[in-house]
Amino acid sequence: MNKKTLIVANWKMNLNVAESSLLVHRLDKKIVSHQDIEIVIAPSMLVLQPLSKDINHQKFSLASQNAYFKDEGAFTGEVSFSMLRGLVEYGIIGHSARRIYFHETLEDVRDKVKAAVRNNIIPIICIGESKPERLAGETMQVLHDQLTTAIYHLTSEEVAKIVIAYEPIWAISTFDGEPSKPSDMQRVLKFIRSQIKDLFGHNIAEEIRILYGGSVDNHDVLAYLSLKDCDGILVGAASLNYEHFVDIVQKAYSLKHSKK
Ligand code: 13P
Repeated sequence: MNKKTLIVANWKMNLNVAESSLLVHRLDKKIVSHQDIEIVIAPSMLVLQPLSKDINHQKFSLASQNAYFKDEGAFTGEVSFSMLRGLVEYGIIGHSARRIYFHETLEDVRDKVKAAVRNNIIPIICIGESKPERLAGETMQVLHDQLTTAIYHLTSEEVAKIVIAYEPIWAISTFDGEPSKPSDMQRVLKFIRSQIKDLFGHNIAEEIRILYGGSVDNHDVLAYLSLKDCDGILVGAASLNYEHFVDIVQKAYSLKHSKK
């Protein structure tokens, strides 16, 4: 199956409207649109609307970094997926920063995934274990619980479209991550796909896109993208550096090209 490689730039709480516009213009000049690579930008909520008018939609898709699971109501300070409908193609859900700093539970993530799908937004569901969980040998159990709860309310057709991002918390730069070894990650990505296979069968498991994220930069991106079960990358810090991000996209393209 020839899936598009997905490169997602999670800008986190960085770059105001003017800075975002500048970065996207610089990226636009350097990045050529490729049929088999999809580039998704996840800026701050405030930036989504102006950026959607600014970007070349042939080259870039947009993602929210979060949203609320109710469609409307008295939820002061929140933005719903229904408000993002038509504005973003993707929504990052359950990022470890949200689980840790904002105490999002498994059930919160589940409800947000359902809300995204209800509003025609593809969820990028982030899952990943902490360092203590890893050291205690609980990685697979944690991933199983996070994944099965998140997709609990979805039909098999809905599951086929979702994106799962494996981001081990111990490898994320924000949490002083230690570098992961790409070769160690294949086992985990394969386990995630096997969970989908057990629940929804071989075809859907093969269709689904699984990303890796955690301090990936332009130096090691090829090693991750070469893993059998890695369909793309969720990039944090390196996506704020325009040269590094362009290099990441170019390397993803060269890998696709070399396989043809
Ligand atoms: P870093 O690439 O900065 O480690 O961030 C990864 C991440 O959290 C992307 O969502």
